[in-house]
Amino acid sequence: MAQPYLRVEKLVKRFGPFTALSGVDLDVWPGEVHALLGDNGAGKSTLIKTLSGVHQPTEGQIYIEGKPVTFRTPRDAAAAGIGTVYQDLALNPLMSVTRNFFMGRELKGMFGMLKMDEMDKVAHDEMLKIGIDISDPGQAVGTMSGGQRQTLAIARAIHFGAKVLILDEPTSALGQKQQMEVLRTIKTVRERGDIAIIFITHNEIHSKLIADRFTFLSLGEVIGAGTKEELAGDDIRRLMAGGAEIEDLAQMLA
Ligand SMILES: Nc1ncnc2c1ncn2[C@@H]1O[C@H](COP(=O)(O)OP(=O)(O)OP(=O)(O)O)[C@@H](O)[C@H]1O
Ligand SMILES: [Mg+2]
Repeated sequence: MAQPYLRVEKLVKRFGPFTALSGVDLDVWPGEVHALLGDNGAGKSTLIKTLSGVHQPTEGQIYIEGKPVTFRTPRDAAAAGIGTVYQDLALNPLMSVTRNFFMGRELKGMFGMLKMDEMDKVAHDEMLKIGIDISDPGQAVGTMSGGQRQTLAIARAIHFGAKVLILDEPTSALGQKQQMEVLRTIKTVRERGDIAIIFITHNEIHSKLIADRFTFLSLGEVIGAGTKEELAGDDIRRLMAGGAEIEDLAQMLA
């Protein structure tokens, strides 16, 4: 594969007089996890909302497989293979795994009858492929663990055509065991080789455990980027702190 699946060039996003993103570049390759890191207010959510068709860029260009694209709506972005799993996961805890999996995209037969058996099988099999075996897809999502819910939302995005899977802080609200479950799911998706993953996190250790490539945002600008090999451990720590050295931070405390 000679080009990234998704490329962002010189992306600018202004809200009125406020510049949330100023000239952001990003390349996302299939079979890779690209960690997007940065402090609160760095512009991570603004960037992914622009990639997902929620916001329109003020300037700059998005490319899919080398071709310039414009997403006027989230539907446009989804049709181009952008699958975004937001923090709230968009799941209904009272409904079953299967109903959540197909929400709004149900398989129907004659007279609009739901093909429940077929949908149960698809939901079960798609989740099994990325690492969890739900014995009863008829169970309510509210009975699943936080990690399993994340896996359900990821399996759903992949089933419905995501080529770029955008995960907004997938591990932030979970305990450690479940965090590791979710990281394993992400690794499994990466190993398929055909899906590019953007992994938004505040967690340095999680990013080091699974990311192949890193982009650091601070106040709307890219302050560092590179592959795991290019970025030594200390670099990652400094960039996580918005580019500050520990001496700078100590100065701020003094
Ligand atoms: N719709 C909007 N209108 C005006 N300003 C906005 C809007 N959305 C975001 N911003 C501003 O843009 C900046 C970047 O916000 P954004 O939510 O993208 O940061 P973030 O990196 O996702 O932060 P967090 O880690 O807290 O989620 C912030 O200063 C925010 O107040
Ligand atoms: Mg955010």
